[in-house]
Amino acid sequence: MKAVQFSKPGDPEVLQVQEVPDPIPGPQDVLIEVKATTVNRLDLFQRAGSRPVGQLPFTPGLEAAGVVLQDANGFRAGERVLTENAQTAKGGGGYASKIAARASDLARIPDGVTFEQAVAVGLAGSTAWASLFDLGRLKAGERVLVWAGSSGVGSLAIQLAKHAGAWVVTTASSEERADLVRKLGADEVINYRKQDLAKALAGDKGVNLVLELVGSTLQTSIDASAVDGRVVLVGNLGGQEATVNTQSWRLKRVHVFGGGMLHTSVQNIQQILELVAEKAVTPLIARILPVEQAAEAHRLLASGEPQGKIVLIHS
Ligand SMILES: NC(=O)c1ccc[n+]([C@@H]2O[C@H](COP(=O)([O-])OP(=O)(O)OC[C@H]3O[C@@H](n4cnc5c(N)ncnc54)[C@H](OP(=O)(O)O)[C@@H]3O)[C@@H](O)[C@H]2O)c1
Repeated sequence: MKAVQFSKPGDPEVLQVQEVPDPIPGPQDVLIEVKATTVNRLDLFQRAGSRPVGQLPFTPGLEAAGVVLQDANGFRAGERVLTENAQTAKGGGGYASKIAARASDLARIPDGVTFEQAVAVGLAGSTAWASLFDLGRLKAGERVLVWAGSSGVGSLAIQLAKHAGAWVVTTASSEERADLVRKLGADEVINYRKQDLAKALAGDKGVNLVLELVGSTLQTSIDASAVDGRVVLVGNLGGQEATVNTQSWRLKRVHVFGGGMLHTSVQNIQQILELVAEKAVTPLIARILPVEQAAEAHRLLASGEPQGKIVLIHS
């Protein structure tokens, strides 16, 4: 089989197509022909050497959507499946054309949902769900701030929060991106380059939950919170450091949760896929490229230009 791998950390050019042995499924596994995967920021960090990987050569790709090749562990040959744990699969990650994934990691892709849509749900959907509901405890009628609305995680979080009956405010860096996130259902959009978000929300009673994808904006998130608000730390798009006023944090009794590696259950991922099938949720796909162009995909993601997920497909 083919796999796009790197043998040493470095620039995107270290990603090369290699001929590698097919994975041998273990007793808990299901053998899958991978049709699509995505590029995540973690792939860039792993390739550049700033996040440790196991053994070299290494095959990136956190998600994989594909077709079951042999009946195994309750799955039938020909079924379409998704895992957001492709890196723990034998032969994985998702930049490989075949993987042997644990059956317990697999969601079934419903009719009407493409492989590209399914992988675009993958980790981003799992993270959005886990931060909104598992950790964030979002309830209908609450107000939520989702930073970076056009990101893979943000674009799904907006839609899942709206579907759950919340009021959603989000951020965008341009009018074009603001229009996009309004179409996804955001009730209010703040251009953080032109407006001070905390001031823009000052007349309101504050938000009950913040999905903090930027990190460096923690003080703004605290300022935007209602009394007893919750802030879930999801990412560091703006950097790892933040300066906070502990007095405003303390007096407002804001609960800040470190999200860690956020994953929800396979059952919840299945629910998101069903919402996609019902057209209640639309994964935002920025670009679809052949997996052989993984280096170009890495450069694109690093540029900050894409709105939504970059999907890589296996031919
Ligand atoms: N904890 C976990 O388990 C987990 C899992 C997945 C992702 N993450 C993290 O979540 C974050 C989002 O990931 P993603 O893959 O969804 O991102 P992405 O699709 O690459 O989205 C990037 C978008 O974020 C916005 N952005 C970038 N810098 C910003 C800043 N300083 N302030 C506000 N907005 C900014 C930009 O949109 P605008 O130009 O419109 O601002 C940009 O297009 C990342 O930090 C990622 O590492 C965490």
